[in-house]
Amino acid sequence: MKLLDHIREWAVSYTKEKKYSPVGIWFHWIMAALVLFQLGLGWIMERFFVGGEKLSAYWVHAAIGLTILFLAIWRGLWRLFIPDPVNDSGAPEWQHTVAHGTQYAFYTLFAILPLSGWAMWSAIQPAQPLSLAGIVAVPPMPFYDLSPAWQYWVMTFAESVHVAGVWALSLFLPLHVGAALKHHFWNRDDVVRGILPDIPDDETSPGAMQHNPQEA
Ligand code: HEM
Ligand code: HEM
Repeated sequence: MKLLDHIREWAVSYTKEKKYSPVGIWFHWIMAALVLFQLGLGWIMERFFVGGEKLSAYWVHAAIGLTILFLAIWRGLWRLFIPDPVNDSGAPEWQHTVAHGTQYAFYTLFAILPLSGWAMWSAIQPAQPLSLAGIVAVPPMPFYDLSPAWQYWVMTFAESVHVAGVWALSLFLPLHVGAALKHHFWNRDDVVRGILPDIPDDETSPGAMQHNPQEA
C-alpha cells in the first residue's frame, strides 16, 4: 500500500496545482487520438467495397475499439483514485454541470461503443478472431448457441446501439472541444493548461518545483 500512497501523493501534487497528473494527461491525449481515428475509420470502412480491404479495416477497427475499452477501464480507475484538479475558471455552476455531464457521457460511450461493437461482431457467425491492439486474442461473446433468429436480433440491436453511440459522441465532441477553446481563447483561464503536458521551464508547475536544479 505504501507504493500506492506514493503514487497518489505524486499525482495530487499536480491536481493541487490545478493540473491533471501526467498519467491523466497521457490517458486523455492517447485516447482522444484513438477515438478520433476510430470515428474516421468507422465512417470510411462502411463505404469500402466488400472485399479484403473492407475486412482488414473492420479488423483494425475492432482491435483499436477493444484497446479503447481496455484503456477506459484503467483510466476510470485512475480517475476514481486521483481527484480532478479544481480550476478557478469562475464559470457559472451550470457550466461545471454540463462539463462534468459531458465527461461522464464520454466514459459511458467508451464502454457502450466497444461493447456493442464486440456484440455485433460476435453475433455474425462464424465469429471471426478478435484482438486487443493486434496483440492479445479476445474471445467473441458467447452467442454461438443462440438460434439464427436470436443472433440476428442481437446483431441488429447492437448495431443500433453502436450507431446511436456514434451520434452521441459526434454531438458531445464539438461541445467539449468548443468549450475548451472558449476557455482558452475567450476567457483566457487555466482550464486547457490543466490538460496539457508540463512545460519544464514553467516555474509554477509542480514538476518544475520538484526538479528545479537551482533549488537543490
Ligand atoms: C470507441 C470505440 C468505437 C468507435 C468510436 C466506433 C465507431 C464506429 C463508427 C463511426 C462506425 C460507422 C457507423 C456508421 O457509419 O453507420 C462503426 C461501425 C462499426 N463498428 Fe465501431 N466503433 C468503436 C468500437 C468498435 C468495436 C470494439 C468493434 C468490434 C469489436 C466495432 C465494430 C463495428 C462494426 C462491425 C461496424 C459496422 C456496423 C454496420 O455495419 O452497420 N466497433 N463504428
Ligand atoms: C476524442 C476527443 C476527446 C475526448 C474523448 C475527450 C475526453 C475528455 C474527458 C473524458 C475528460 C475528463 C478528464 C479525464 O477523465 O481524464 C476531458 C477533459 C478535458 N479535455 Fe478532452 N477529450 C477530447 C479532446 C479534447 C480536445 C481536442 C481538447 C482541447 C482542445 C480537450 C480539452 C479538454 C480539457 C481542457 C479538459 C479538462 C476539463 C476540466 O478540467 O474541467 N479535449 N476530456
